[in-house]
Amino acid sequence: MFSSLQSLLWTVSIYVKTIWSTFFAKIVWPVVTDAKPVGTEQRNEPNFSSPEDVLAQIKAIRDDHETARLLQHLIETDGAGNWPPQASHGDAWPTALRPYHNIYLELAPSFPAKEVSLDNEINSKRCLEYRTHMRKLLHDRIDLSAVKAILLAVEAGDESAFPADAYNGFFACIALSRHAFRWGTIPIVKFAQKEKFIDLPLELELPWPFLHRRFGITSQGGNLTSNIICNFDKEEQIVYEINCGMPEIIKSAEYHFAHMFPAMEKLALPIYYNMIQSIICFGRGQRDACLDFLKTISAHIRYPLKVYYDSLVESKIPRSVWMSYVQGFQAWGAGEIIDGVYVEFDAVSGNQLPFFHIVDAFLGLDPYLNEENRFRYIPLSQRELSASLRKHSFRDKAKLAGDFEIETEMEKILKQIRVFRVTHRKRARPYLSVPAPERMIMTAGKSALESITIPNIKAAIEFLDIGLVKRLKETV
Ligand code: HEM
Repeated sequence: MFSSLQSLLWTVSIYVKTIWSTFFAKIVWPVVTDAKPVGTEQRNEPNFSSPEDVLAQIKAIRDDHETARLLQHLIETDGAGNWPPQASHGDAWPTALRPYHNIYLELAPSFPAKEVSLDNEINSKRCLEYRTHMRKLLHDRIDLSAVKAILLAVEAGDESAFPADAYNGFFACIALSRHAFRWGTIPIVKFAQKEKFIDLPLELELPWPFLHRRFGITSQGGNLTSNIICNFDKEEQIVYEINCGMPEIIKSAEYHFAHMFPAMEKLALPIYYNMIQSIICFGRGQRDACLDFLKTISAHIRYPLKVYYDSLVESKIPRSVWMSYVQGFQAWGAGEIIDGVYVEFDAVSGNQLPFFHIVDAFLGLDPYLNEENRFRYIPLSQRELSASLRKHSFRDKAKLAGDFEIETEMEKILKQIRVFRVTHRKRARPYLSVPAPERMIMTAGKSALESITIPNIKAAIEFLDIGLVKRLKETV
């Protein structure tokens, strides 16, 4: 009796759902979206093709919508014609800039400490020696007026001698040289952490405002785009290593950690294209085509996420080396007086990866980073794209209109981001728990944490966890 009633209810519910879907697609949808009659719409088939095809597809729709134009702009300017950004280093630059590249590489073997010391005197000596050496090489080999002339010419619009991929490589070189000078040695040590004002060489200060203006950022330190993404060559190898000459376990952890980020962006580009197509179709009332694009997104979003799941594992990034040898360098934890107030800057964090900004925006979620931090660490073209995607997010509209199918596909995308956030919270904890007695408690994204209120690692993890839990709760 019970089971036949249950099956009757089930059958009725299927009928109701089918009738509603048809009614919705033919009657409600065109009214809600002011669309052309169903059937007359042009179907844009989602397509997951080669990277070249995806680039061509994005270019082909650049005039169709603001989001498409901004993605194309991001690819052309910041990406140097591709995504993730292309970067070239050293020989690809104007002659006057090449010494920067050579100096980083020449000094790289003397940067890491083979044996970590807890002696403050030994550590400060190492750090200061490296700095003295770098300062001297920069002073002796860099012709500042020639550097300035090149950067001014590019800023005035002449990119002939310094194309975008070379500029990206230069961005990486200057940012990483600044970090190398700031820390003076890896693992980073308490002596350097305690310094809050860094007297950087003029050769590293002069190009920085040009790079700020070019990329639309404001931090003294680097960010994920400069330090990680633009630090890969076309063979996907790191150009400016932190752990040059160190044991393989450390070098490979450095590689796997950094490589995750461009690898995720590479797999994300077709997803960005499909997102924009879904927005275009929604706006045009092409509801079925919009749904197809969403289905493609929800099916493919697992690929960039899988890079994270497969890479942030003990066999590729051992906990024993991550904190001391991979992470510390990417922090900044120093600042300057601005309008009479001391302002401290952080540097690289996974929270700056475009992928999460873009997916969150597409889903209509508020940004994770506040405005101040977005301006400091996220290049302008990335910010503009996310802001536009958020403005055109149609999740709430589809929900309000009662479109179950669109809502379901959106929910599938959201669920995968939620799973990432649950996993990330769980995976981050053991990495953060590893003691690093040579330094004070710190993370790159949140720089120095040790204080009266955060006296130990446990308290630091609880503090950081608050942000991750909050974000998880917001992912609805
Ligand atoms: C051992 C490695 C990692 C640790 C210990 C770690 C730790 C943290 C911590 C403590 C936060 C919150 C504070 C902040 O915003 O900076 C955070 C945020 C975040 N991290 Fe990581 N992270 C790691 C690797 C990664 C990687 C590889 C990615 C991406 C590929 C990533 C993506 C994010 C994102 C997107 C956020 C912002 C919060 C959110 O969207 O849920 N992290 N991470």
